[in-house]
Amino acid sequence: MITPRISPPLRSAAVRELFGIETTMRVPVGTPPDDLAEHVPTVDPAYVFDPDVTLAILSGFAHNRRVLLQGLHGTGKSTHVEQVAARLGWPCVRVNLDGHLSRLDFVGRDTVVVRDGVQVTEFAEGILPWALQRPVALLLDEYDAGRPDVMFVLQRVLEQEGSLTLLDQNRVLHPHDDFRLFGTANTVGLGNTSGLYHGVQRLNHAQLDRWSVVATLNYLPAQRESDIVLGRVADLRTRPELVAAMVEFAALTRRAFAAGDLSTLMSPRTVISWAENIAIFDDVARSLRLAFTNKCADDEKPLVAEFFQRCFDADLDIALPATA
Ligand SMILES: Nc1ncnc2c1ncn2[C@@H]1O[C@H](COP(=O)(O)OP(=O)(O)OP(=O)(O)O)[C@@H](O)[C@H]1O
Ligand SMILES: [Mg+2]
Repeated sequence: MITPRISPPLRSAAVRELFGIETTMRVPVGTPPDDLAEHVPTVDPAYVFDPDVTLAILSGFAHNRRVLLQGLHGTGKSTHVEQVAARLGWPCVRVNLDGHLSRLDFVGRDTVVVRDGVQVTEFAEGILPWALQRPVALLLDEYDAGRPDVMFVLQRVLEQEGSLTLLDQNRVLHPHDDFRLFGTANTVGLGNTSGLYHGVQRLNHAQLDRWSVVATLNYLPAQRESDIVLGRVADLRTRPELVAAMVEFAALTRRAFAAGDLSTLMSPRTVISWAENIAIFDDVARSLRLAFTNKCADDEKPLVAEFFQRCFDADLDIALPATA
């Protein structure tokens, strides 16, 4: 028997007070049992919550909705779930559904162990049955990269009361009352249509249909993105106008990508890396080259340099290979 999530019982807290979002919604908060305490993510005090996405995630925690977050890379999908869990005191385990995670890793397998000097076969539980029976939020990261054999195991679990049948064990596992399931994906199940997300799969629509809440997190308003960077990189807090120019530069790359002029775009994650590089090198252009320009194709670098000129009124030294 597994311990209940909360001792003493759950306290209900106002979302308005916890996250500063205008709503009457309330959510359960509490402390996890000792053996799961290490799985509660650490609170990041500088984290900036997006109201729509945060409410979607909270509906997952408070009302057991299955919540899928979709959006471009580095926009804060995985960390949003973690940071909400951190503030609710909910254990959260992240699993990368990459192409190497097999059904056996996920569900479990028979292993040979030595007990009292005798070899015996034992079933070693995978992460899915482990989480399902505990008050844990399981975050399926890169959900659209999962292998089809792994995805089909989820089909039933995705239903709210969905149990899991361990065929070779003849056992049916029922989810713990406080088990929660979240997913993040870059695409909406149609595969790599933008060319940015190599390795993703097309998703089965019967399965996509089982996610009861789908929220989108693409790029944020400029002011909110600046706040995120300033929150992350303390060394730049005295230079908000520099950060505003960096965010403007990132927006230009995103627009150029949408227009088909650039094949790479700058994610909020890259803006943060650029800011961290500036704290190290104290050189905006060098830091940009190391964080972004060196990832761009040579024939696109002049356009990147032009954006830099526009935002910083300075040259970006792009050393192109000499043409014969
Ligand atoms: N709202 C935010 N407040 C503070 N930091 C943020 C925020 N959004 C993103 N970040 C930071 O940006 C980085 C990328 O976030 P995260 O890994 O959650 O993105 P993601 O959307 O899951 O990306 P991917 O699609 O590549 O998995 C992290 O370092 C995170 O801390
Ligand atoms: Mg992620």
